[in-house]
Amino acid sequence: MKLLVTGGAGFIGSNFIRYILKKYPNYQVVNLDLLTYAGNLENLKDIEKNPNYQFVKRDIADKDLVNDLVKDIDIIVNFAAESHVDRSILDSAAFIHTNVVGTHNLLEAAKNNGGKRFHHVSTDEVYGHLGPDDPAFNEKTPFAPRSPYSASKAAADHLVMAYFFTHNLPVTISNCSNNYGPFQFPEKLHGLFITNLLEGKKVPVYGDGMQVRDWLFVEDHCEAIDTIIHKGKIGETYCVGGNTEKPNIEITKKILELLGKGEEMIEYVKDRPGHDRRYAIDFSKIKAEFDWEPKTNFDEGMKQTVEWYKNNQDWWREIKSGEYLKYYEKQYAR
Ligand code: NAD
Ligand code: DAU
Repeated sequence: MKLLVTGGAGFIGSNFIRYILKKYPNYQVVNLDLLTYAGNLENLKDIEKNPNYQFVKRDIADKDLVNDLVKDIDIIVNFAAESHVDRSILDSAAFIHTNVVGTHNLLEAAKNNGGKRFHHVSTDEVYGHLGPDDPAFNEKTPFAPRSPYSASKAAADHLVMAYFFTHNLPVTISNCSNNYGPFQFPEKLHGLFITNLLEGKKVPVYGDGMQVRDWLFVEDHCEAIDTIIHKGKIGETYCVGGNTEKPNIEITKKILELLGKGEEMIEYVKDRPGHDRRYAIDFSKIKAEFDWEPKTNFDEGMKQTVEWYKNNQDWWREIKSGEYLKYYEKQYAR
């Protein structure tokens, strides 16, 4: 099988490429990534020389290029996105460009090249947010996005399903909860808090810290996507979750504990505007159909994640200093 993985230089995409090439040594992967601030080829250093791996630095919204690339591939797995809610609050233009226009361009290329198999990686945030006693999101929960990021992802999900109904495109979608693990960009909760503490800085907890997320170790997400691209039913959506609902303050205290730091390192700061209060995922469909469930328990996943950031300080220090972007600017200068 030959996969076109978009956004493969980001957090989940790079973990997914590594997972696929290890599990299926005969598969070929083309990684199409624009290397925005969040894309980093250091994430794939260990596989860059693998003869079954190819990297293309371009925009998923580039019509001619994508149309050409798609011709000889079997499946598109679309991770490419602007993914950070706080950035979408400051400026949402790039979110519309990549998440909506870019996804549309990929769908067009899939349609115009004989109807290629298309898997779209989406988020639980399209469903809005929950009160403390509401049932978890499932595949039938109506969309109610509340941030420019989640609205752009919801728009993309609608386009994917529209191409299924209208053009018979063989699509699947996964709507996943919050991921954590190695290579997560140090702007998200885990990456930022662990690296801040390793630098001796405080951690900024938004509002009262009681917002709840359902945490999934990234490798488990990769396994769920692998399951769906091989066994998923065409035209279906699968909710993927971690069965690990935790308030942010509990995650924060766990990170402090694992790094041997005290609660004086917590700084409560102004809340995120429109901050979603709670996400939770009911993943009984993918569990019932394919026996997928998360394998990594919270304590183990947290330990592995903190260890990874401790042992890979060059990786995140280069990012935090901005040095890695200067390198790509030179390497890919036209
Ligand atoms: P990320 O921000 O770490 O990586 C995104 C990647 O996409 C980067 O490598 C970036 O360079 C690339 N990219 C951005 N714009 C592009 C463009 N126009 N053309 C080509 N490449 C482009 O994101 P992530 O956290 O790895 O998330 C990957 C996907 O999973 C996203 O679609 C996101 O919505 C979804 N998702 C993320 C989570 C999570 O917790 N991180 C949970 C559920 C779903
Ligand atoms: O639910 C899936 C989504 O999870 C993905 O679709 C997004 O791409 C991904 O970024 C993530 O979104 P969140 O907004 O939930 O993740 P983030 O790591 O930004 O924040 C997690 C929680 O921690 C959230 O309630 C906000 C809070 N937070 C975050 C940061 C960065 C803080 O309290 N302080 C911070 O500095």
